Parts: sequence; structure tokens; C-alpha cells
Amino acid sequence: MIISPIETVKGTITVPGDKSISHRAIMLGAISEGITEITGFLMGEDCLATADCFKKLGIKIETSKDKVIVHGKGLMGLSAPSSILDVGNSGTTIRLLTGILAGQNFSSSITGDASIQKRPMLRVINPLRKMGAYIEGIDDGKYCPLHIKGSALNGINYKLPVASAQVKSAILFASLYAKGKTTIVEPRASRDHTEIMVNYFGGNILRNKNEIISSPVKKLTGQLVEVPGDISSAAYFIAAALILPNSELLIQNVGINPTRSGIITVFKQMGGNIELINNRIQSGEVVADILIRSSKLRGVEIKGDIIPKLIDEIPVIAAVACYAKGTTIIKDAAELKVKESNRIKTMTSELNKMGAKITETENGMIIEGTNKLTGATVESYHDHRVAMSLAIAALRADKETTILNSNCVNISFPDFFSLLENFNR
Ligand code: S3P
Repeated sequence: MIISPIETVKGTITVPGDKSISHRAIMLGAISEGITEITGFLMGEDCLATADCFKKLGIKIETSKDKVIVHGKGLMGLSAPSSILDVGNSGTTIRLLTGILAGQNFSSSITGDASIQKRPMLRVINPLRKMGAYIEGIDDGKYCPLHIKGSALNGINYKLPVASAQVKSAILFASLYAKGKTTIVEPRASRDHTEIMVNYFGGNILRNKNEIISSPVKKLTGQLVEVPGDISSAAYFIAAALILPNSELLIQNVGINPTRSGIITVFKQMGGNIELINNRIQSGEVVADILIRSSKLRGVEIKGDIIPKLIDEIPVIAAVACYAKGTTIIKDAAELKVKESNRIKTMTSELNKMGAKITETENGMIIEGTNKLTGATVESYHDHRVAMSLAIAALRADKETTILNSNCVNISFPDFFSLLENFNR
């Protein structure tokens, strides 16, 4: 994809549905009783992979435009798949689904693409094994393919070694099948969409400070889930409006759950002119419209508790920080190394090809704002968030930029480039 610089972004847009919420709506719909209707569903490759896995597990799922109907069969209603489940590029699918499969009365196997086969799986397998799960994988479960022999599970008390919503959610899904209560202690709060949605479907999950307590229920009941726009997708356009002069952009209907909206806090700390308007609750989640005006930005330090609340936005923060005055320091973000690519490495090397001054550190990056980037040929490493963050950096560069392997945007934001193209007209 070739990205030419653009002058400004003006107007009103919406972004596709939240990826995390779309995955969970299919999963909970499948194991609930009755119909779950999902509007605003993200028709990206990751969420479609989740739908495919559940079809293989015997669930009828009807899809039309952005609406999905899931014919739930109840907690014990899934059936043994006749072939291996394939999650494609989706870490959320493999980790959360493994939690569900651990408690079934059948065996199954699950795998994904080359990137998924390199991503750590022991972080979910260890706690699930403590619950009584039988899971085998490459190198004793370090990597997939995984083979899961469904078994009776027990509740556990578990202290998460990393702040990960995927690990927490795998345990919470397994807890729906366990005898007794499950208590999870988080080192730092991570996204809580699973907790919100399980309760919305009739489950019983409580939070007490950094402890999450799940009590099994007899059944979950299908619901209407209205998926809001994904703040992780909105982040690219918030960034574009901040860095391009004379911009004024309204992004309607975006999920601003406090465990996801660290990006708004950080952009405001950098001097960003951002207003949240029309706050409301939709299917248990906080939603708002976001108004952004171009701003003079300054560097900030980003570390500690806010990191899990903006973990997927760090690549675009790195791009924006190049156009800020002063230095931006990102710490405590070692988790970036085990995402779809090693995002510390990939963002540092590719932005530096465009003239950025970024130093890679053990757990983050140091970015010297230069206020100027030059178009170059850069590589996405098949990582959707790297491709889109480089595209945003390219909007204010002084020449055009070529992004190699840019098709990966289909993972989470299939219309990304056409939405961007609209601002050129
Ligand atoms: C996700 C959790 C995050 C995030 C991923 C989606 C989820 O991963 O990076 O894109 O839907 O639970 P971790 O929880 O592993 O940090």
C-alpha cells in the first residue's frame, strides 16, 4: 500500500466494531441458551475465525452485513469438532477458546498461523492444568497446536504472573465449568469485557479491588449485544486528527471502557484536544462520541498501571510521539514482544527507516520527537497494528511511504485504507 501525505482530516466517521467484544459475544452466545443477536459485529478475519471455530463445534451462526445471530446450545451444548480448529492469527480466539474446551466432555485440537505458533501458550495452560485440565502442546504446551482432552474442572485461586486479559478470560471461561469458586488476582487491571459480558448473560463474577471472583451458575441466557466501535481502531484516526493541522474529526459510537481508554488519557497528557461527548451505556459497556482537534503535542512518560489499558495502542503512540516536542518514554511494556510481532522491535526499526529517532529498550522505547519524518519503504511484518501505525506516521511525512504486506489490516480493520483514502478527496 502506498500512502501519500494528506493535509488535514475533517468530518464525521465511525469505526468497525470492537474486536474483543465481538469475540466474546460469539463465545458467550454459543454457550448460552437461546438466541444471541449481535449488532456492530467486527467482520474482520480474527472474529470470523472465532465464528468458524464455533460452527465446527456444532453451533449455528448466521451472518448478514454487520449482524450475527448465534443459536446458543447452553453450557454443555457444544459437540466434538470433526477437524482441527483453526484460529488464524487470533490470540484471543486460541486462548479464550482453550478455556472453554478444557471443560467439555470431548477432545479437540486447536492451532493457528505461523505467528500464533510462536506465541506463548503456557500462560493459559498452567492455570487451566491447575483446574484439572488435560492439555498437550509443542514443548509440553509452550506452543500450539494444542490437544485438549475435556475433563471435570475445579475452581482455583490464581495470581496472574502477567497482566493479561486473555489469560484472565481463559480462566474465567473455564470457571463456568468448574466445581466451586475461582478467584483471580491481577497484578494490574486488564480489560474487563469478559467480566461485564458474563454478568450481562446471567453469570456471577464479582470484583473486589484486584481480585476477581467467579461463581458458577446453572445457565447463561442469550442476549442482544450491541458492539460499540473499537477504540483500538479509533486510535489511528484520533492520532491522524491530532498530528495533521486544521483537523476536526468526530468519531461516533466508540467503546470507552476505562480498562481500554488509556490512549485518551495519554493523548490528553501530551496536549491533545479531545472531548468525549454523549456518554452512554450499551450492553453493559460505556460508549461515547469522540471529538478531536489538531494539537501541539509534547512528549510524556508512559508506564505502570496504564500500560494494559493501552497495550494495543503503543505502536500508534510511537508514531504520534515522533511529531511531539520532546521525548516520550515507554516503560513496563515487555508484553509487546509477544504480540502478533515483537512490536518494540518492529515499530522501532520501521519508524527509524522514516527518519525517526527511536531507541529500543528492554521493556519499551525512547522516542525523540523530531517533528519530521520522511517517506520510505517499510514492512508490516504481517502485524495489522504495525501496518496501520506506519500509515498514520506516513500521513505527515514529506514523501510517500510504501507499506509492504499491508493486507494484514483485514485482521481487525478491513476498510482502514479506504477510510483513509476518503480524506484525500
Ligand atoms: C485482548 C487482550 C490483549 C490484547 C489483544 C486482545 C482480549 O492481550 O493485546 O489484542 O481481547 O482479551 P493480552 O491480554 O494478552 O495482553
